[in-house]
Amino acid sequence: MNFYVMTLFPEMIRQGVGTSITGRAIERGLIDVQAVDIRDYSKDKYRHVDDYPYGGGAGMVMQPGPIYDCYQDIVKHMERPPRVVYMTPQGRVFSQEIAEELSREENLIFLCGHYEGVDERILEEIVTDHVSIGDYVLTGGELPAMVMIDAISRLVPGVLSNETSAQFESFQDGLLEYPQYTRPEEFHGKRVPEVLLSGHHANIERWRRQKSLERTLRRRPELLEHAALDKKDREYLDILINSSNNKE
Ligand code: ADE
Repeated sequence: MNFYVMTLFPEMIRQGVGTSITGRAIERGLIDVQAVDIRDYSKDKYRHVDDYPYGGGAGMVMQPGPIYDCYQDIVKHMERPPRVVYMTPQGRVFSQEIAEELSREENLIFLCGHYEGVDERILEEIVTDHVSIGDYVLTGGELPAMVMIDAISRLVPGVLSNETSAQFESFQDGLLEYPQYTRPEEFHGKRVPEVLLSGHHANIERWRRQKSLERTLRRRPELLEHAALDKKDREYLDILINSSNNKE
């Protein structure tokens, strides 16, 4: 899978994705991340890519020309126009579902905005998706682009060392992950739950599922509305809800 990031801070992207799991995935050729400097497409001898906003107001606006030339350079060898994601707090809020959808693309372009924004005409012309990573305002689109690249890359086959591990964690079936333990068996007086030491796989599976349900109910109850639950899950949730009602 190929990611192209149009940015004024290519080093930030290279440093960010070049380490840890995404870094290894790049080395192994499973993903490719090209950080493309929009300034390289400035026609100005000082490499300016921004100007004052028409109509007045504070700050500077990124001009459409350099972004367009940068985009053309990226897509010139592609058979069909790829999706272009513009990071903005005005977009659809990023989720595991969007990560899964985007992980099926062969090429993805991210456009990172800065200053007070980007000329609307270039957004209208090339952007296919407006995406936010949450209801807060960042200084630019680089961190959101890296967040999205990370979440999408780990869904690319082979990127996680244990192929199954992307399936068994938070948001699998729409539930939060169960708690994990490792050695020692006792830490600061707290023992690892006995069932995990029992070697009884069916009991361990049941315990983990119940912990996932408990956690989701306590921490993110709204997720239960869309979670994939069977009859046993619902019965267990009823028990949890009734027992907490009885305590009140
Ligand atoms: N750019 C600035 N803030 C952002 C956010 N919350 N999500 C995506 N892009 C942004």
